[in-house]
Amino acid sequence: MIPKNTVDTILETARVEEVIGDFITLKKRGANLLGLCPFHGEKTPSFTVSPAKNIYKCFGCGKAGSPVNFIMDQLTLSYPEALKWLAKKYGIEVVEKELTIEEKEAQTERESMYIVMSFSQRYFSKQMNETDEGRSVGLGYFLQRQIPIGLIDKFGLGYSLENRRQFTDDAIQAGYKPKYLVSTGMCILSNAYVEGEEIKANHIFDRYAGRVMFPIHDVGGRVVGFGGRTLSNDKKVAKYINSPETDIYNKSKVLYGLWFAKSAIQKNDKCFLVEGYMDVIAMHQAGFENVVASSGTSLTVEQIKAIHRYTTNVVVLYDGDEAGQKASARAIPMLLEEGMNVRLLYFPNNDDPDSYYRKVTHDEFTEYVNSKTEDFLYYTAKKLNEDSSGDPIKKASVIKTIVSSIALIPDNIIRSIYVKECARIMEIDEPVLLAETNKIRVSAKKQAAKNTDSETVQPATEGNEVTYEEPMQDEPASVFEAEEKELLRLLLAYGNAYVTIEAEDENLEKFDLEITLGEYIFFELMRDSIKFENPIYSEIYEEYVNELSQQRLPNLTHFSNHPNPLISSFVVNHVHSNYELSSKWKLYGVLVPNEIQLLKKLTQSTLFSYKARKLNVLINESNELLKINSHDKVEIILKELTTLNTMKQRVNKLLGRVVIK
Ligand code: GTP
Ligand code: MN
Repeated sequence: MIPKNTVDTILETARVEEVIGDFITLKKRGANLLGLCPFHGEKTPSFTVSPAKNIYKCFGCGKAGSPVNFIMDQLTLSYPEALKWLAKKYGIEVVEKELTIEEKEAQTERESMYIVMSFSQRYFSKQMNETDEGRSVGLGYFLQRQIPIGLIDKFGLGYSLENRRQFTDDAIQAGYKPKYLVSTGMCILSNAYVEGEEIKANHIFDRYAGRVMFPIHDVGGRVVGFGGRTLSNDKKVAKYINSPETDIYNKSKVLYGLWFAKSAIQKNDKCFLVEGYMDVIAMHQAGFENVVASSGTSLTVEQIKAIHRYTTNVVVLYDGDEAGQKASARAIPMLLEEGMNVRLLYFPNNDDPDSYYRKVTHDEFTEYVNSKTEDFLYYTAKKLNEDSSGDPIKKASVIKTIVSSIALIPDNIIRSIYVKECARIMEIDEPVLLAETNKIRVSAKKQAAKNTDSETVQPATEGNEVTYEEPMQDEPASVFEAEEKELLRLLLAYGNAYVTIEAEDENLEKFDLEITLGEYIFFELMRDSIKFENPIYSEIYEEYVNELSQQRLPNLTHFSNHPNPLISSFVVNHVHSNYELSSKWKLYGVLVPNEIQLLKKLTQSTLFSYKARKLNVLINESNELLKINSHDKVEIILKELTTLNTMKQRVNKLLGRVVIK
């Protein structure tokens, strides 16, 4: 781990113009520097570097961030890797933090495991290329499947000889400890091993004997697992044997192909999702490098989040067969819920991307992929509409199907666009579709609340956060968004400024309290248990509060250098560029000259109108619930409504006071 003060030194030392200047030519333009954006193809420069703010922003593709973000993007490095790269450039010594004995042991274990995996990958590839069996069986197989040598090398494909002790013996001969051969999943313990004793060479044998090997890389490019495919057609033999979950291979996080796809996903702002190892490779062969597969597990929320770091656009290319349809029926709702735009591409006759690529010409394939993808929801609406035409009862059930998908979309604006379009496609009144969507959201929200209340385990989709915090449709989402954005801007830009507020002590005596604006915003939001709707804003806010709770004053640099590119680009785009005062500020500025007073007023009015809006949403929701609920619940809801209305009055009073003054 890099110690915090070294991280700070690196961030303070790295100059954006020097770092970027190493990669592209920058020309002076006023206070800024201008160049051709390295992240998207452009002919006239729109990539702007601001030495004063130590940030960059492309006005063409919207990429923005700090020197660290640039290095992460440009060299596809992780956050710590990018920091180390910068440290090297500036001659800053990085002494990684001393670890505890347990941490050190765990680390050496993991490092030994990485070394075993890297050895194994080179070993299988060598066996495939340099032994007779390897060449005729392993290499022969890949060539017969028409994979070019270049891609065999790029993906590090290999072959494990049929002799069940070949790898085991060679690995031990090369000095690798049996215990790591087992903990990495490369070898299997035999019956000769007795629980508790030290693992010896004669206790273990090869896991993958006689299979072609697909190494699985983590997002940093290290081999953490393998998929081994049998060459036999015997249905009783498992087609693929995959590495077990290990200390270095977290199956629910790793995506096959992501290491090779990262930069292409960013460049194209799109990610193809396929089912198999062979499909990833075939897509590369076809010229689509922005492709990943969930490999051996069904798609998880964590894997979706890994894709989300690079894009919000996913094209699902699952097989048309039954297994593939089942898999996409599971994957698509999860993708929608994560806020992804989901498009679909079906191949004819149960083909998968690999088998289809082998059937048609290269150009036909690219043409097919480029022109045949359809938006998932529009496609479904169209298909359902055709299936149910002229049958009103069928139509009713069809509406429920589409609505259950639309209701998953977290973003209010995107959701309402889908409601509108799907209503048009299905020839139903928009308000009907909207009401149905909201009904589902309200009941899902109640269900989620009930589950938390009774502390029952969340059903089915484990690890999947259900966030149905969203309001009803009559609240304009954009206004909500604007206020959250404004609050975050104030928090990040001025959170460390001190303001004086009126507080009450235990005896209800009023006194002046000096706190930071950040603390003030925190107390106000906490008081009414208000959470940001937008997940990114909420993440920034949580992190801010977490820093506060550790007695640290979070500064803007902390966030503009953030490892999560969504956060750093938000900060650069919305906080840095709006550092100048908003029009609201100027409005007050005419009346009151004191800057801190202004800041306080602006914060208060934003806070209170945000709260008022939130309460309105809750009140509307309760009213809605009153309509659909049976009598026994009415009393509870009415009580809730009364409380909400009281809160609303209080907030409105405060709001009025602030605005009038
Ligand atoms: P090919 O038949 O070689 O083209 O492979 P494929 O990738 O098309 O295989 P398929 O569509 O049958 O399976 C898709 C993915 O599911 C594979 O790439 C594997 O990750 C996984 N898979 C398939 N069969 C098995 C199996 O028997 N066991 C396990 N654990 N995973 C499998
Ligand atoms: Mn296949």
